Amino acid sequence: MTSAEPHSGEPLAPVGALPRSEFHRRRRRLMDLMDDNSIAIVTAAGLAVRSRDTEYPFRQDSDFHYLTDFPEPDAVAVLLPGRSHGEFVLFCHEKDPVQELWHGARVGADAASEAFGADDAFPLSDIDDILPGLIEGRDRVYYSMGRSRDFDARIMAWVNSIRSKVAAGAVPPGEFTDLDHLLHELRLYKSAAELRQLRHAAAISVKAHRRAMVQCRPGLYEYALEAEMQHEYARHGARHAAYPAIVAGGTNACTMHYTANDRRLRSGDLVLVDAGCEYRSYASDITRTYPVSGRFSRRQRKLYELVLAAQQAAFERLAPGEDWNASHEASVQVITQGLVDLGLLAGRVEALIERGAYRDFYMHRVGHWLGLDVHDVGDYRPGGEWRILEPGMVLTVEPGVYVAPDNLAVDRPWRGLGIRIEDDVVITEDGFELLSEGLPRSPDEIEALMA
Ligand code: GLY
Ligand code: MN
Ligand code: MN
Repeated sequence: MTSAEPHSGEPLAPVGALPRSEFHRRRRRLMDLMDDNSIAIVTAAGLAVRSRDTEYPFRQDSDFHYLTDFPEPDAVAVLLPGRSHGEFVLFCHEKDPVQELWHGARVGADAASEAFGADDAFPLSDIDDILPGLIEGRDRVYYSMGRSRDFDARIMAWVNSIRSKVAAGAVPPGEFTDLDHLLHELRLYKSAAELRQLRHAAAISVKAHRRAMVQCRPGLYEYALEAEMQHEYARHGARHAAYPAIVAGGTNACTMHYTANDRRLRSGDLVLVDAGCEYRSYASDITRTYPVSGRFSRRQRKLYELVLAAQQAAFERLAPGEDWNASHEASVQVITQGLVDLGLLAGRVEALIERGAYRDFYMHRVGHWLGLDVHDVGDYRPGGEWRILEPGMVLTVEPGVYVAPDNLAVDRPWRGLGIRIEDDVVITEDGFELLSEGLPRSPDEIEALMA
């Protein structure tokens, strides 16, 4: 890793979009998993108001994006395996010169088939006339119930309109099945093209973390570090963070979801920075904790090295065939032993683990799936057994130790220290690949970069 200013130099070359064929393959695979004579209905995200007539930046729903790549709000995708007139039907906003003058081009139903591989595309205004006819005669409807009250009600209205015509020979569907289970199982395994996006998202976030580390100094506000990171994301074409950044100086690090980011950084404190960008809808999720002044105190370094050792122990259990929980248990073992060694817990390690004593200091799991969503989809315990890791699964490895400021059971100087180290990995045939490579992790490396 070069010691040059991490934010100097040309922006990274963009990584190309996923090919159309990948979305086609995903729909094919989902339809292969669906029952015969069934239908799946998947909805796009809507716009959300931020303030009066101003909306939040639009973010497509991850499931909808995964299956269609269609970038607009309110659309509806319908999959009908085996239908001779076409298996993929899309409903979308119609073209509208006035709307487009203000808000930008729409694809429109006429162009959507060609551009997004739909066998048929219709304006959303026709959905009430067309969709009941597509549902009718199908035995099973796959749909993610409970996400949108409005759309749930519309589905029921369409089904009821079919039921009302039973006497005339209409056949309403007999079964509703949650789509999430099938779809999220597919999303759990990342393709080579997805891994290129995830690697790129991580690479941008690594640059952003390096930039924040170099810029960090006492007296800055937490939001100034956040700004350094946002600048770096945007410079490389990642306009959005994958989640609200946590820039937590001092005891703020003990609040797990601290996002106020509005306090001054103080000399002698650590700062915990949990931040990652989204690139072409794919998330990165990286945490580093470092001394505001660039040098760890002896106590900070000891606790930091404990978290680092826990992360190392977790890494060692990441390989095909290991279960999802093995890396977590490895981190718990190291952290509990370390807390005893440092005098923060007293007792026999096995007994402390047994009764969960470490949870006062380590209250979250070692990681989570990562993908289109920062806390990505996929069962952790399919059928009640911990998931066995397989190549293509992407996850975070993020042990932490947090000593609550009001923990009177420990010596005062420990109180308020919060440390997390988080990296992103993909399981490979023979272990794992670190996606977030190139970011200092050891205390010596961090001090060298900050010097
Ligand atoms: N940034 C959220 C998490 O680490 O899970
Ligand atoms: Mn994180
Ligand atoms: Mn995370």
